[in-house]
Amino acid sequence: MPPLTGCAYYPEHWLVDQWAVDAQRLREAGLSVVRRGEFAWDKMEPQPEQYSFDWLDHAVEVLSQAGLKIVMCTPTATPPPWLLHQYPEIRRVGIDGVRVSTASRRVICGSTAPYRAAARSIVDVITRHYGHHPAVIGWQVDNEFGVGETTRCYCDSCRVRFQEWLAERYGSLDILNQAWGTQFWGTTFTDWTQIPVPGITTEPQNPSLRLDYRRFSSDTWVAFQQMQIDLLRANAPQHWITHNFMIRHWSLDYWKLAQALDFVSYDNYPHGLNDPAEVSMNLDLMRSLKKRSFWVIEQQPGRVNWHPYNPSVPPGQVRVWTHQAYAAGASAVVYFRERASRIGQEQYHTGLFKWDGTPDQAYYEAQQVARDLASLPDLARPSAQVGIIFDYDDLWSIELEPMTQEFSYWNWVRQIYTAFWQSNIPVDFLPREADLTGCDTVIVPAAILIHPGEVGKWRSWVEQGGRLIVTFRSGVRELSNIATAETLPGGGLSDLIGAHVSQFSSVPPATYTAWPDHRPGSQISAGAESVFNYHIWAETLTPITAHTLYHYRDGLNAGEVAVTQHRVGQGEVIYLGCWVEDFARFAAAQGWITAAPAPVQITTLQDVAGSAWQLSINHSLHPAGNLEGYGVSYEKLSDND
Ligand code: GAL
Repeated sequence: MPPLTGCAYYPEHWLVDQWAVDAQRLREAGLSVVRRGEFAWDKMEPQPEQYSFDWLDHAVEVLSQAGLKIVMCTPTATPPPWLLHQYPEIRRVGIDGVRVSTASRRVICGSTAPYRAAARSIVDVITRHYGHHPAVIGWQVDNEFGVGETTRCYCDSCRVRFQEWLAERYGSLDILNQAWGTQFWGTTFTDWTQIPVPGITTEPQNPSLRLDYRRFSSDTWVAFQQMQIDLLRANAPQHWITHNFMIRHWSLDYWKLAQALDFVSYDNYPHGLNDPAEVSMNLDLMRSLKKRSFWVIEQQPGRVNWHPYNPSVPPGQVRVWTHQAYAAGASAVVYFRERASRIGQEQYHTGLFKWDGTPDQAYYEAQQVARDLASLPDLARPSAQVGIIFDYDDLWSIELEPMTQEFSYWNWVRQIYTAFWQSNIPVDFLPREADLTGCDTVIVPAAILIHPGEVGKWRSWVEQGGRLIVTFRSGVRELSNIATAETLPGGGLSDLIGAHVSQFSSVPPATYTAWPDHRPGSQISAGAESVFNYHIWAETLTPITAHTLYHYRDGLNAGEVAVTQHRVGQGEVIYLGCWVEDFARFAAAQGWITAAPAPVQITTLQDVAGSAWQLSINHSLHPAGNLEGYGVSYEKLSDND
């Protein structure tokens, strides 16, 4: 089946007479799917345990009669006001101890018993009601867990559950005290109930406690999702289950959140990202989470309303975003939303139609997409040979203590990813525990936490011919976020890279003029022709069995080793000790990518018969390659018969 298109539809926002008109117009736009229901708990259960589905049954009937398939959502992102009023303790508490107000969405804490019980019962009722409905094809659980910094709550319920979570993880207080190093600043706990949730203190709180709180908070929502998945599997066994993940989001461990779903869905809002490369990075991460196709279940249709600036988009852009998603392996793109809302918090957000019901730009582009896809077979994205390890614990550990405000794990990964993207080299993201078979190059960016046993696995893969590129800030801390007692990098990494890290230092920006003699420097080189600037972070290396590729040129680090290469079996391990400013130029100099960025994005896809197709996308208003501004083309490259 070729990829689908669809849109979010809110029958509860429009008069009943309008529904059939809307459904017809969506069919005319070539759409075949509507997603609905994620914010309608108040209409489904207007009073405690009094359910009302007539209106929704009617909407589903009207939509399905027009030939649209329905993705149902569970409505747990917006508990009704009566529930919030009856149980004020289910409202989330900020780190400042203030309980959030209502009349918005996601104001809830996922650990509180009354909220969980009410959520369980509405999900049970709605999944029984629609679990066998012929027009329903699948379910979205809740809506965007964590949106607007709502993953972490600091209420009393969370404190108790955190203590239970810790007891489970560590088994005894002695072990916890040891693992967290509580002796520092004399905070040894003698009873589980003494352990706080993070809060306001004048000096920083224990970094192990803070990292574990991030894990706990993420696990809370994973468990909340699991509760809903269990009900869905029981009540709607024929339907698939997904959840909508977000752009550049990391308060939740998405590897864990993805696990029990049939596939991941993603809300693609490019205006929240920096550039087309970062859009592809997020899309590729979504495919990687389950190593399979995913849905874009919300697609930005034009201007949004929530960014610091909200420009409209040039003609052709929505079509390009849609095909960019297909290039990354999306099997459906669902536009957000049908008609721009005349009510509520998102009135300035565009849809396929304007407030007055006349088509907006995205409507015509959705029609064009339907025409583009009409003659195409189902195209899948083959696995990549380049892998980038991406880990939420590493990101959190660094975010909690970056050592320089410029150090962003995400930006470092993004810079590496972008270099490959600009060369049209496909990339998969990998979890820390991934099997590396099938890759020829794997990049391990700032893998700060040591995972016992992992390096042995990497070594066997390198011995078979793999190229492992490990970067600075790897192998520094134990899983509980205390420093390793080993010579850096720890966990066996020194042996694998064939070198030690002797010193590490942040690199202040040039505008920071204090202590000029204390600067590590700004350049590395391998001979006069090969010079690269670095910033943010620098480590000096002591090679043992590795050989030196680059030296530091200036500043305090002058003459020290910056980059090493270690041959291991048939393969090699590179250790990059500093954050090179232009990673793409550096990678091109090593022969990892092409020298010049490609003018257009080119992706090779495969049809079910095994034939290769080339999808070319121009991300600019100006003609490039053989494409006009914002042009898209599909071309069959080979017949496999
Ligand atoms: C998404 C959200 C939608 C809507 C949209 C607006 O994050 O899931 O409900 O708010 O943003 O761009």
